[in-house]
This record gives sequence, structure tokens and C-alpha cells, in this order.
Amino acid sequence: MSYRMPTAYRSTVVGSLRRENAGDRVRLAGWIHRRRDLGGLIFVDLRDRTGRVQLSFGPDWTPSAVLESARRLGAETVIALEGEVVARPAANVNPELATGEIEVHVTGFEVLAQAETPVIPVAQVPGEELPAEELRLRYRYLDLRREELQRALGIRHQALQVARAFLSEHGFWEIETPILTRRTPEGARDYLVPSRLHAGEFYALPQSPQLYKQLLMVAGFDRYFQIARCLRDEDLRADRQPEFTQIDAELSFVTEEDVFHIGEGLVTALWREILGIELATPFPRLTYAEALEKYGTDKPDLRLGMEFQDLTDLLREADFRLFQETRGTGARIRGIRAPGGGAKLSRKQLDELAQVARDAGAAGALWLRRGAEGLAGSFARALEGSLGERFLERTALEVGDLFVVVIGHFRTLPLVAESHLGATDAARLGGAEAALDALRRHLADRLGLRDPGLHRWAWVTEFPLFDWDVAAGRLVAAHHPFTMPHAQDAAKLRAYTEEKGTLGATDARALFEAGIRARAYDAVYNGHELASGSIRIHEPDLQRHIFGALGIGEAEAEEKFGFLLEAFRYGAPPHGGFAFGFDRLVMLLVGATSLRDVIAFPKTTAARALFEGAPAPVPAQELKELHLALVRTERS
Ligand code: AMO
Repeated sequence: MSYRMPTAYRSTVVGSLRRENAGDRVRLAGWIHRRRDLGGLIFVDLRDRTGRVQLSFGPDWTPSAVLESARRLGAETVIALEGEVVARPAANVNPELATGEIEVHVTGFEVLAQAETPVIPVAQVPGEELPAEELRLRYRYLDLRREELQRALGIRHQALQVARAFLSEHGFWEIETPILTRRTPEGARDYLVPSRLHAGEFYALPQSPQLYKQLLMVAGFDRYFQIARCLRDEDLRADRQPEFTQIDAELSFVTEEDVFHIGEGLVTALWREILGIELATPFPRLTYAEALEKYGTDKPDLRLGMEFQDLTDLLREADFRLFQETRGTGARIRGIRAPGGGAKLSRKQLDELAQVARDAGAAGALWLRRGAEGLAGSFARALEGSLGERFLERTALEVGDLFVVVIGHFRTLPLVAESHLGATDAARLGGAEAALDALRRHLADRLGLRDPGLHRWAWVTEFPLFDWDVAAGRLVAAHHPFTMPHAQDAAKLRAYTEEKGTLGATDARALFEAGIRARAYDAVYNGHELASGSIRIHEPDLQRHIFGALGIGEAEAEEKFGFLLEAFRYGAPPHGGFAFGFDRLVMLLVGATSLRDVIAFPKTTAARALFEGAPAPVPAQELKELHLALVRTERS
């Protein structure tokens, strides 16, 4: 530990003490972690943010009145003390503790604050189950005292410093953008703030600084970043919070490769400084179409292998009804080879696979395993003779392996379920590719293929420009409407919109099916989407065109984004950028499984703050000042 942080109450921090301090007189302050009373001797673990140390009270060095009061010290009492650092005899060294080679012989102490018996224990016995999360969130300040959360927030702090230093060194300026703002279309619902001064008008809290960062490029700042708080009123999951943080960046005069270079540098610095791991660069690039084709998802876990294999032509030769029925339907027969899966999975586990596929929307799944005696499984009989040999050769199925097949329509264009929310939030409607992806992930878990020692990053590029919103029957922006179309598809897009003027639903559907690609990308790590970004449109004409295709008319475009369109008329540089989900990054760096474990004061899955109690009703008078009145709805 490099710092001692001396103050009026202490000469050093607890975690700084080592064998070489033996003989030092020290003053310490902190919390009572645990107390053990051994008759004549009392041992107390004292804790502060930097660690723990053993205090020892004994008749040979502690005055008897002090010793007596030490017997009454309860857990979490705050004390300040004086004493001498003493080396522990070899037999008493505690290798689990950084300060385990010494203890402090206390000569006097003062209680700075009494503590009631904590509602949830701070001192944990290894392996002890944590209290219910609701209780932990309600008493967050106690939960945060636990070593695990102290460590997580320490890493979060460190990651912030590494990111800031890296970006600053590469010419980025940290510029803050407003919190009370206009609606930004990132696809989720806005949190709105009523204006007191302007009756009936609302600010929106930013879903991201997207428009501002583009304006900063127009303003000539060249490279911007911000550790930006984003607010989105969307349904929550373990990897989503209504309030979260992005490392948001934008660069001028760039193409994708320039942006990737910076993004790679940033995460490489984080992995090196925090985990001591050197990531291999450049990260592989994979187009969206390739990702869907090989893994059925735009965020593949590249540690797992098990690429999709298309066996439609081969298996249609087999005398097996389900395969035969695919003829003329456009359905494909695809599968994955799970190494060792045939030998390792029980019959019951194999039978579960069809359910995994059904849960992901497919009709089911078929499996086949190769044992010493040959193939076994639902369509093994149909693979006798040379067909079987060709199957083994094509799939490279070894003895002990498992092959799982899904039959259906494998999609490469995303449909979204909900009408008005757009891509970020709306549920994506998966086809057969989603089922085989689910099986791939399920098998990876069953077979223990997610090696925590592997760190597989990739850029997934050329996302589709549009999603199809099934409920509303219209096009929506897959990333956001400021994303530049792929050069090869831009002409196609122009021709469409110019020819048709306003697009009707059928034209829009045709445009969607034309598979217009965007210059949009994601950074994906071990199966998690950690960043998104794109090269932006910087010409007002093209931007109007895209708004038109999205059914945003001139008047609406002017009303919502007029300031951006106007800015583009005054000389905008080509620009692009990205935003990393910072909470997700930290969660993975820490090895946590929930965002709540890396955010000091998170919300519950019902978007409530349990500790401070938010959201909360407000007095009628305040509502009146805001020109608001509550109306009773069915739910209230
Ligand atoms: P996007 O909406 O994809 O892009 O967000 C970027 C990254 O932020 C993280 N993220 C979240 N993390 C926690 N809780 C949430 N609710 C949440 N939503 C998103 C994800 C995601 O990859 N303005 C664009 C970026 C750009 O184009 O530069 C944007 O916000 O890790």
C-alpha cells in the first residue's frame, strides 16, 4: 500500500501495516469487524477501507480499565486507538490477511461512535450466504462495508482513472453535456422532468449524450469523451439499470478502423492495468451477417467454438421425414458439434435440449451422439452407409461428441416486437438461429466451456441500418437515426426513397428486406455487448433522407432535431464514435454477475431505490407549482 492517509485521528491506515513496522507506535481508526474474548486476552479485528488488522488487548501492555472496556466493544463500533505494532510469532501468522504478520498491542482507545447490532452482518464467514438482496439494498451503507463491495468500487475507481488517462493521452477532451435536455432517440422511454417556469413543458434526462457529442464535433473539438450518466426508462434485467454510466467518445475525421484502434487501446489499457492481462490486438472483426451465420447472435461468445454448420443439402438425402419436409420451404437444417457432449451428458440432459430450443421459439431440437459403437440418437438410423460417413466427415464428429440440430428459418435481419420503443429496448423476435444460439450457450454451460481465463473480444460490424417493428409495421433505426449507411448500400437507399417519395408500409418492408447495412458496430467480449457506436451522417441531405425512410416527416425532423440539421449546414467534419457500457465493463473486470454489485446505490429490478426510497409521491403544492395534476388510472 502506497498511502498512509494520516489525519487528526490516525497516524496511518490499517492496511498499511507490515512486518517492517514492528516496534512502531501507531494511532489507528476504524470499525470493529469482529471480537474474540479469550479470558485474559482480547482480539479485535479492526477494519477500514484499506483492510483489516488484528488488535490485541492483554494485561501486559493494556491498562486494566482499558482492557475492561474492550470487553464491551460490539461489532461495527467506531474507535480510535493507540498502540504498538508487534511481529506475530511464526505460528500465529495469518497468511489470509495482508497484515497477518503483525498485530497491534493496544494501550488506549476511544469510542468515536457506538453501533447498534447491524441488521445485516458485515463480517462474513467464508461460504456464508448473503442476506436477501432487498435487505442489502435497504441497508446499502452496511452492505457496502463488505470487503467484496469495497473491492468492486475500488476497481471501478481505478477503471475510471485508467480510462480518463488513456483518452486524455490520446487527445480526447473531457467535456460535460447537459442533464436537463431534449429527448434523444436511443430507443428507450425518456425520464421526463416538468418545467416550473414553462407550464406544460418538460425536459428529458439524457438517454445518452449522442446529439451533444456530434455537435461538439461540428464545433471543432476533434476528440471528446465523457464518463456520462445515461437514463433510460426501460424494463430492467441483470445487465441493465435505469441509470447507468457510459464511457462515451466521439472523434472527427475518422473511419471505423480509427475508432476501433482507440476502443482497443482503451480496453487493452483496462485489462492490463486492472487484471494484469495483455489482450491480443487487433480484435477480430466479424460482420453482423457472419456473426448471425456462424453463431446466430450479434454478441457471440467466441470462447466456445461450436460454429453453426449448414447440413441442409446433406441431411435432405436422409430418409427422415422432418428433413424431407424442409424441401421447398426455405427452412434450413443447421447444427453444432459439442466436443465431448455425447459422453458427458446424461440421457435426461440430452432430452432437455429440445426444451431449450422450444423456449427460444423453435419447434424443437434433434441430437445425435457418437459412441464407440457408432451413432445414436433420433436420426441415427437415417444415416447408415455412405451418408453417415459423409456426415461424420463434414461435421468432424469424434467419438464422445454430440451433434445438435435445429430445423427452421434462420434469419439475418432483426424483427422487433414492440411498436414504439425501437431497437435498444424492444424484444427481438428470433428465428431458428436464436434457438441454436440458445443451445450453444446452454451446452457451453453444461460442458463448462466458458473458460474464465480466456478473454475474447471482437468488433461486430456492418449492422443492419433498420429493424422491422412488427407491431407498428414500420421501419425503425437499428442503432439510432444518425448512423451512416454502408457506402455500398447508400445508393440503393437513395434510389428507393427518391423513387417512392413517402414510403408506404410495403415499400418500407421491401427496404428492410433489402438488408441495407449501416456503418454501425459493437464491441463484444465473451458473449457480452460492451460497446456500440457508428460512423455518423454528417450531411443534412442524407440525414433528411434517413428521417424520411423512418417515417419522420420534414416538420417532425425540424421540430425534434432541427438544431442538428441546422448545425450540419455549417460544415460538419466526418465523425464517429462509441460508448462503452461502463457498469458492464466493471462487472466483468470484477467478476461480478450483477450490475448492482458494481454500482454504489443501484436500483432494484422494479426501478426502485430502496435505501433512500425513490420514486416517492410529492406534496400537492409542489405538483401545482409544476403545473401538474395527478389523474387516477386503473393502476392507481
Ligand atoms: P447504446 O444504447 O448501445 O449506444 O449504449 C452503449 C452501451 O451502453 C451499455 N448500456 C447499458 N448498461 C447498463 N444499463 C443499461 N440500461 C444500458 N443500456 C446500454 C451497453 C451498450 O453497449 N449513443 C450510443 C453510442 C454511440 O453511438 O456512440 C449509445 O448510447 O453496454
